[in-house]
Amino acid sequence: MATASAAQAAPVGVDAPSRREFLYYIWGASIALLLGEAAAGLIWFALPRFKEGEFGGVFNVEGDLVPAANKVPVSMPAGRFWLSNVEGRGLYVLYGVCTHLGCLPKWVETNNRFECPCHGSKYERTGKYIEGPAPRSLDKFEATVTFDDGTSVTSGADGVPPGGPLPIEGHTITNVAVNTGDRYKSTSRLDE
Ligand code: FES
Repeated sequence: MATASAAQAAPVGVDAPSRREFLYYIWGASIALLLGEAAAGLIWFALPRFKEGEFGGVFNVEGDLVPAANKVPVSMPAGRFWLSNVEGRGLYVLYGVCTHLGCLPKWVETNNRFECPCHGSKYERTGKYIEGPAPRSLDKFEATVTFDDGTSVTSGADGVPPGGPLPIEGHTITNVAVNTGDRYKSTSRLDE
C-alpha cells in the first residue's frame, strides 16, 4: 500500500519553458534568420556576377587595338561594342545593338556611318541617329582608358560625361576597360 508521501512525490523530468522563455527563443531565432539573410545578401552583391571578358562584365582592350581618329571603328563582337575614335571629340564606346529592334548595325566605310541591315537605321561615327525607324541614337558603355603615363579617364567621372566621349588625343593608350554591365541608354535621336 502506497504511503501518502510517495503519492505526493514531484514528477521527474524537464519543466516546459515558460511563456516568457518561449518568446525569447522565437525572438532569438528571428534575429539569427535575419542576420543570415543579410550576410547572404552581402555576399551576393560583393561577388561579381559576370567574369572578366564575358558579356555583362569588363572587357580589357589593348591600346594598340584602339582605332586612330576617324579611322574605321573597331568591333568587339564578344562584348557587343564598337570603339569609335572621332577627331576633335574622343573615344566612343558604342553598344553595337540597333535601338530599333536589336539587330547589329555594321560600319559601312563608303558611307562613313553605321547601317543596320534589318530596317535601314543609320548612325554617325559617334552613334548619333541619322535616319530610319530607330527611336534613338546608339547606347554607350562605361569605360576607363589608361595611358602610358599611368593616368586614366573614366566616362561618367573625371569631367567626362556619362557615355563619353573619352578625351584621348595626344595620349598613348595602354588599355581600355569597357564595362558591358554599365550601359548609358540614349534618350533621343539627338544624343551623341
Ligand atoms: S533593327 Fe535596326 S533598323 Fe530595325
